[in-house]
Amino acid sequence: MIRTASQYLEQRIKSKPAIAVVLGSGLGAFAEELADPLEVPYGQIAGWPPSLAVGHAGKLVIGKLGKLDVAVMAGRAHLYEGYTPAQVTHGIRVLASLGVRSIVLTNAAGGINPALERGGLVLISDHINLQGANPLVGPNRDDLGPRFPDMSEAYSKPYRKIAKQVAEELAILVTEGVYAAMLGPSYETPAEIRFLRTIGADVVGMSTVPEVIVANHIGMKVLGISCVTNMAAGITPQKINHEEVLQTGGLVRNTLVRFLKALLPRLEACP
Ligand code: HPA
Repeated sequence: MIRTASQYLEQRIKSKPAIAVVLGSGLGAFAEELADPLEVPYGQIAGWPPSLAVGHAGKLVIGKLGKLDVAVMAGRAHLYEGYTPAQVTHGIRVLASLGVRSIVLTNAAGGINPALERGGLVLISDHINLQGANPLVGPNRDDLGPRFPDMSEAYSKPYRKIAKQVAEELAILVTEGVYAAMLGPSYETPAEIRFLRTIGADVVGMSTVPEVIVANHIGMKVLGISCVTNMAAGITPQKINHEEVLQTGGLVRNTLVRFLKALLPRLEACP
C-alpha cells in the first residue's frame, strides 16, 4: 500500500521532494506558499485516511519553495478520530518512500509551562507518549527500520539549533519544550495538567507523536513545532474550546509561514 501510494504520486510530480511539512489544526496557510503546486486530496491516495478534524484541509500539496521541492500535508489524521496508528502514520511512510528524508511537524498545543503565552511557538525537544498506542506495535517492518528504534534524539538537535538561529534572525520568539501526547478528544482536566507538569511536559496535544515514532524508525530527521493555541486546563481560569484553538492558529499563521519559508532551505542544507 505504501509503494502503491508513492508510485501514484511519483507519476504525477516532476521532481521528488526531499523535505516535508505537516500542518496542524488551523495552521494550513503555509500550503498556499508553494509555487507550481500539485494538490492531491488524501482520498485519492491509496491507504491514506481523509482527515475529518475541523480546521484540517486534508490534502497533500507538492510544489516549490524557491528551488526547493517541498511536500506539505495540509491536515493529518488523529487517533481520536478512530484511525489506527498505522493509518495515522501512513502519510509519513509514503513520503519516506517518495524520498523525503527530513520532516517538520507542526501542531496546535495547550501551554502547560506558565512561562508560555497563547500564540507562542515551541520547538519540541522531546516528547512523552501517553496515547496508549505505538504505531510500531505488531510485526516489525524490517524493510523500513529496526525492531527497537532508538528515541534518545527523536527531535534532531542540529535542526533545533538551526531553527533557533533562523527565529532569531527573523525576530520570532521561540522557546523549547517537551510535548506530552494525549489520546483526546476531550481536553485534559486540571488534575491531568498538574500531573503532566509534574512529569516534565511544557505543552500538550493530541497528535505528532505517532508520526515522530515512525519517522525515527525509518531514519528521517525531525523538527517539531508546537503553536500554543491556548493555555492548558487549569493554568488559567478560562475554559478551552476548539474555536479558540483555530482562532490562535489564524493569529500566528503569518509568523509561522515566515518562519517555515526561511527555515526549510536551511534545514535542507544541513548535512
Ligand atoms: N490540550 C490538548 N490538545 C490541544 C490543546 C490542549 O489544551 N490545545 C490544542 N490542542
